Amino acid sequence: MIIVPGPSSEELGRKVAWELREKIVALEYKNFPDGENYLRFTGEFKDEDVVIVQTTGPPQDTNLIKLLFMIETAKGLGAKKVVAVLPYFAYARQDERYRPGEVVSAEVVIDLLEKAGLDGFVTFDIHNPELLGKFKIRATSLTAMPLIGEYFSRLNLKKPFVLAPDQEAPRRAEIVAGILGCEHSWLDKFRDRITGEIRSEIHEDFDVSGRDIIIVDDIISTGKTIVNAVEILRKKGAANIYVGCTHPVLAPGALERIAGAGAKEVVSTDSIPSSISKISLAPLIAEELRKG
Ligand code: R5P
Repeated sequence: MIIVPGPSSEELGRKVAWELREKIVALEYKNFPDGENYLRFTGEFKDEDVVIVQTTGPPQDTNLIKLLFMIETAKGLGAKKVVAVLPYFAYARQDERYRPGEVVSAEVVIDLLEKAGLDGFVTFDIHNPELLGKFKIRATSLTAMPLIGEYFSRLNLKKPFVLAPDQEAPRRAEIVAGILGCEHSWLDKFRDRITGEIRSEIHEDFDVSGRDIIIVDDIISTGKTIVNAVEILRKKGAANIYVGCTHPVLAPGALERIAGAGAKEVVSTDSIPSSISKISLAPLIAEELRKG
């Protein structure tokens, strides 16, 4: 097996290769003066299984086009099989035609990956697991929640409680709560599909007075989902509020917004490199790749 750390996940790709004790083929890349991308593999992989680690976090389109270039070229250069690890899968949230005429971007991206010659796809905490059923190739979504749970279990929290900020995340909260041996619950979230504004409400009453809370989610983008949850928890008398997410998409101002609402610490995985990416996905990726 040969690992190619893509330009958007160089460090993570190298960690995965180290975990697996497998060879790396590095990529040479630059931009032409007009902004177009130039990529070149610096080694050979004829008849080898090639794993490309390339996240598609911001800038999503640039990272995606580089990935497509890499898949197609690796196949063209004789790779036996090409597996792409996209720790964060861009466009996965646009998985339905919510309003007439909308582009179902997730399906377009899946189609492009398959047409480029991809044989296997691995991602983390995909927004809607049903999307995996749209792939014709083997597609897997792993969860980073055990790693997030382990991170918080080392903090010695006071009577911890885990909260999912919307009705799509209770399973995530359950995994983290299982590791901490504590209770969990979730909020109901409603989104205005035109303005994008969100409103959050308590699903089932819970007592968090004086307790340390961990909010867990798949993605932090604008941070507004987390801010709503932090505000509800503060009104209910929570002590310290921590936030853990898999994908730090982090639109401008997101971390400031969350800190301003009163969260004590925000951590994420390295699915997208960021200032809060303290938890590495490398061990879980390596474990998955070992399965073959
Ligand atoms: C969507 O429902 C996801 O699970 C996240 O809660 C959402 O994407 C976070 O977005 P934002 O940070 O912009 O509220």
